[in-house]
Order: sequence, then C-alpha cells, then structure tokens
Amino acid sequence: MSNDAIVLLKNDHKEIRRLFREFSSSGAEAHAAQASLATKIIEALTVHTYIEKETMYPEVRALLPDLEDDVLESYEEHHVADVLVAELAATTPDAERFHAKTTVLIENVTHHMDEEENDWFPKVRAGLGRKQLQDLGAKMIELQKTAPTGPAQPSALKKAIDAVIA
Ligand SMILES: [Fe+2]
Ligand SMILES: [Fe+2]
Repeated sequence: MSNDAIVLLKNDHKEIRRLFREFSSSGAEAHAAQASLATKIIEALTVHTYIEKETMYPEVRALLPDLEDDVLESYEEHHVADVLVAELAATTPDAERFHAKTTVLIENVTHHMDEEENDWFPKVRAGLGRKQLQDLGAKMIELQKTAPTGPAQPSALKKAIDAVIA
C-alpha cells in the first residue's frame, strides 16, 4: 500500500464519492438504506477531515506559503461541511429536511474534493518532495487509528441545530 499522502487522501475521496453515489441513487423512500448510508458518510467525512486538518493542511501552510489562500479556503469549506455533518447527525431520515440536507452536503463536499484533486494537490506534489509526502502519509495512517468518527456536539451547537431543524 502506498504511503504517499496525496494518494491516501485521494483514496478516501474515492470511497466518499462511492457513498455519495449510493446515496443519490437510492430511492427517496428507502429510509433504512439512506439512514445507514448517512451514518457511513458522516463517519468517512469526520475521519477524513480530521486527518487533513491534523496533517496536510498545517504542513502545506508551513512549507508552501504560496498555497496559503488555498488552505484558508479549504478550512472554510470544511467548516461548512462540519456544520452540515453535525446537523445531519441530528436528523432522522423521515425528517422533511433529511434528503435536502444530505444533497447539499454531497454537493459541497464534491466541489471541495474536486478543488483539492484538480487544483491544489498537484501544486502540493510539485512543492513537496516524495519523501515529505511519504512521511506525511505515514502520519496519516497512524492518526487514522485514533481519529474521531462522529461530530462532537457541545450543547450550544446542539441547541443551534435543534432550532434550525425544528
Ligand atoms: Fe479537504
Ligand atoms: Fe479531502
């Protein structure tokens, strides 16, 4: 298995896209299937976000100052996804907004992954050496073992979510 950080992140993206396709092609009334897919999507996104924020993003920020704007934009895109993931985790599949919320999450994250893959990961590969990307990848594999699998829900956030989905 490759240790290359970008290969590892792209593998995650592939699996996330597969879950998205499964969700999008499931029937609107397939509540049980959609609930289990939403759980898998929440878990995959929570782990992936944690790994990127703990490794790739700070490393790129420190070593490739030219990519600062890309990293900052990515943090904001992740923030939007985090909010949607937290709300989705508190929404049941029979809720009126469940399907729409998941669709918006899928659209947002797909856009973000496209930008990473096509726009700034190639610049990261050009800017960091093979060895640096492998060291980073090794850190990712290690972190994967202890990564959180669901959004933390401090009571303030929970209250905000309840207000929105009520
Ligand atoms: Fe990302
Ligand atoms: Fe990513």
